[in-house]
Amino acid sequence: MERIIDRAYRFNEEQQRALEQGEISEEEWYEINKQYFTRNYLESDNPRGQSGHSEDEYHYSLSHLMILEAINKDGSFIDVGCANGYLLESLEKWTKGLRYYNIEFHGLDISEGLIDLAIKRLPDWKDRLFIGNALYWAPEEKKYDFVCVKELSYVPINKQQSFLDHLFNNYVAPKGRLLLGSYVEKRNTNALENKLSEWDYKPTGYIEKSHHKHQLLSRRILWFDKE
Ligand SMILES: C[S@@+](CC[C@H](N)C(=O)[O-])C[C@H]1O[C@@H](n2cnc3c(N)ncnc32)[C@H](O)[C@@H]1O
Repeated sequence: MERIIDRAYRFNEEQQRALEQGEISEEEWYEINKQYFTRNYLESDNPRGQSGHSEDEYHYSLSHLMILEAINKDGSFIDVGCANGYLLESLEKWTKGLRYYNIEFHGLDISEGLIDLAIKRLPDWKDRLFIGNALYWAPEEKKYDFVCVKELSYVPINKQQSFLDHLFNNYVAPKGRLLLGSYVEKRNTNALENKLSEWDYKPTGYIEKSHHKHQLLSRRILWFDKE
């Protein structure tokens, strides 16, 4: 089980250690992160791999369909860290196919290479795919009804609380919803939820499913509604 979690987090831990020991600056942290994602994702020959998923389409769908349960009205949706846009494309296919809510999808990524690929794949969406560091980027015009970020680890640990504040205050529209996940966690630990409650973020809802690779792991999405 440790190996399933570790694979995704080992790189991040090494980055965090290097930052804390002063071997790299925060600017370099983002640059190294960006290069890591870009190189690894662009190496893949399929759209799931190009957005960081190593499994087949069946398991990809099982892991991501759960996001639909957090969408409870028509509106706009942004995937923060959208890579090649595959999640957005899949969510659009699922929402349209199920005649579910009417959602306009947007994406943001720090990697120029991945946004270039997203625009090549989804040319009609080019005005809705943005390049930027999510910690500093903010929507120019309207905020979003749904803001989805898979991980807080897109920024160093000491910036995660201000990252969450920035997303909630500057991305989420009034009556909108911030979705965190789907991320993998050891079952019944509520590790992320506990950390967030120290920052006064209490989820208004969540969804959890068991992880098909190990009985002691679960996949979770937490959401936070804005007044
Ligand atoms: C695991 S992928 C997620 C892809 C997609 N959201 C999904 O769930 O399938 C993470 C993406 O976040 C992007 N990313 C990492 N740090 C970021 C940051 N600070 N700002 C914007 N994007 C970032 C990476 O370039 C990468 O494409």
